Amino acid sequence: MKKKIAVLPGDGIGREIASGAAAVLEAAGKRFGHEFEIEYAEIGGAAIDAHGTPLPDSTLELAKNSDAVLLGAVGGPKWDNLPSAQRPERGLLAIRKELGLFANLRPIPSFQKLVQSSPLKPEIAGNVNMLIVRELTGGLYFGKPSERRGENNEVVVDTLQYTRDEIERIVVKAFEFASGRSGRLTSVDKANVLESSRMWREIVNEKAADYPNVTVDHMYVDAAAMKLISSPGQFDVIVTENLFGDILSDEASMITGSLGMLPSASLSESGFGLYEPVHGSAPDIAGQNKANPLAMILSTALMLKYSLNMREEGEAIERAVQSVLNDGYCTSDLQMEGSTVVGTDQMIELVTKR
Ligand code: NAI
Ligand code: MG
Repeated sequence: MKKKIAVLPGDGIGREIASGAAAVLEAAGKRFGHEFEIEYAEIGGAAIDAHGTPLPDSTLELAKNSDAVLLGAVGGPKWDNLPSAQRPERGLLAIRKELGLFANLRPIPSFQKLVQSSPLKPEIAGNVNMLIVRELTGGLYFGKPSERRGENNEVVVDTLQYTRDEIERIVVKAFEFASGRSGRLTSVDKANVLESSRMWREIVNEKAADYPNVTVDHMYVDAAAMKLISSPGQFDVIVTENLFGDILSDEASMITGSLGMLPSASLSESGFGLYEPVHGSAPDIAGQNKANPLAMILSTALMLKYSLNMREEGEAIERAVQSVLNDGYCTSDLQMEGSTVVGTDQMIELVTKR
């Protein structure tokens, strides 16, 4: 197959790890007989410097004309003093919105070699393999009005709004993922207090009828926050609204022990997707060949699985990553006893070879 991939390196370590994505695509292409045509464009601070805006039209056009998008990370001290409407991070919000990316997915696997880095007990951290499906374009973050009122601005209002359609499409996405995995779906809400959660729960129960192979349970968000620490192994797919998903996915991401390992996908209704590591541009280590490229490489694997219908190819990349870790190699952000610490370039080469 021939596929066109837009690669947007962005800023800081984004520029170093993007080459890891290109390298594994080339290797996977050779091994499985595909041709990946990669085209690069700027986003974030680099785009501000080159084009005066964090999301140039040319970058958006390229993204729309590609089969999928890979993004490094944006932001850095150089642009921190710009007004918020002009900052690099705006580029990211804008591209998500322009591409209609409503479903944010964060798989949290456990890496046996890394359980020592986890703040949880090894027997708990070692038993984790979950997927968090977060609604990305509705709820409190986009509710109108969001304002201050009263004579002295002593009243603040944020509005939590969802339409039935918005809830249905994310819930259906989650059921689809659950039926392709272990068949367990946990819907997280606050239905004992919030009307939006009551509608959320109704819709989950309605859709459950279409997926007889999926077992559904409902959990309040406060209980879910607790269970993610006490027994994370009980979860397979979690689906939840925007704010709850933001908080729970950051909480869950710590189970693996390093930000440098975690990929994410953001999907539109048609299945078009933007794939990026969960971490940022890490200005403290940028340009030093220290960045862990595995989150970027695992994001590339997700892209193959979710957007390009190349499951086997994506799993081959995931196995290559596991194999490098099992052979005792890691980057300096990981704490693995008796391991060999390598730089960004060498880690990319180790994975590519496998
Ligand atoms: P960060 O994720 O960039 O860094 C947090 C800490 O983790 C740092 O100590 C960093 O060295 C380390 N780290 C992160 N990724 C790593 C990797 N792959 N390998 C090794 N170590 C890694 O978050 P921070 O410092 O809060 O933000 C830095 C900049 O990134 C800011 O401008 C922020 O706005 C931006 N940012 C961008 C995101 C994106 O593009 N999606 C997401 C989060 C932050
Ligand atoms: Mg967050």
